[in-house]
Amino acid sequence: MKTSKPFITADGSTTLCSGKFGVHYHSTNGAITESRHIFIDAGLQAVVKGNIKILEIGLGTGLNAALSAEYATLNSFSVGYTAIELYPLTHYEYSLLNYSETLPPQTANLWDRICRAQWNDETIISPFFSIKKIEQDFTKWQPREKFDLIYFDAFAPDDQPEMWQTEQFLKLFKALSKGGVLVTYSVKGIVKAALKEAGFWLERLPGPPGKRHMLRAIKG
Ligand SMILES: C[S@@+](CC[C@H](N)C(=O)[O-])C[C@H]1O[C@@H](n2cnc3c(N)ncnc32)[C@H](O)[C@@H]1O
Repeated sequence: MKTSKPFITADGSTTLCSGKFGVHYHSTNGAITESRHIFIDAGLQAVVKGNIKILEIGLGTGLNAALSAEYATLNSFSVGYTAIELYPLTHYEYSLLNYSETLPPQTANLWDRICRAQWNDETIISPFFSIKKIEQDFTKWQPREKFDLIYFDAFAPDDQPEMWQTEQFLKLFKALSKGGVLVTYSVKGIVKAALKEAGFWLERLPGPPGKRHMLRAIKG
């Protein structure tokens, strides 16, 4: 598979341009800014009431995971994090990212530990954060436990339509606890229709820089 290439986004943090898909892992208007806005502010911060289980579709660079670990540490609650990824980054690709310099030092340390965590096994990263990185095709994966919050961070529906089908959202709906939430950056009509068909109630929220809106989908 072709190696991904680094790209410096508008807030100074890097993202990668995927060697396989030819698209960026994050918004070029700011990788860290986007990740904080969609997944932490509109997701974790809005949902958390205590210890929580998070599922991420598309671990990628581990940025969403690191920011979640940071938030859990600052607010003293525990996060059990499960992340699905079919194409894990190589050590070389991780080395192209500048999160060691652009994240606060303690968060950068958490990020480094997340990147080094074993696949397919639970790893304790800190007293407030553990992660299970699962190397598998999301479209074939079947959840065996319940989650409170889902970060749906697949590549865009135009690039990977198979990830955004009703069937996949139905699987996630069933895997969410009652009142659970899914957040994603895409507000495309087909995404909204598939989420609604799966049973979610949708909220359209202001998006990060460069994007008018994002979605929060709730299991009522
Ligand atoms: C938008 S990027 C995720 C960015 C990531 N959340 C981060 O913080 O860096 C999409 C991710 O989905 C992964 N992916 C693509 N197809 C997949 C599949 N069928 N199953 C699981 N992961 C997949 C890609 O390799 C990529 O890492």
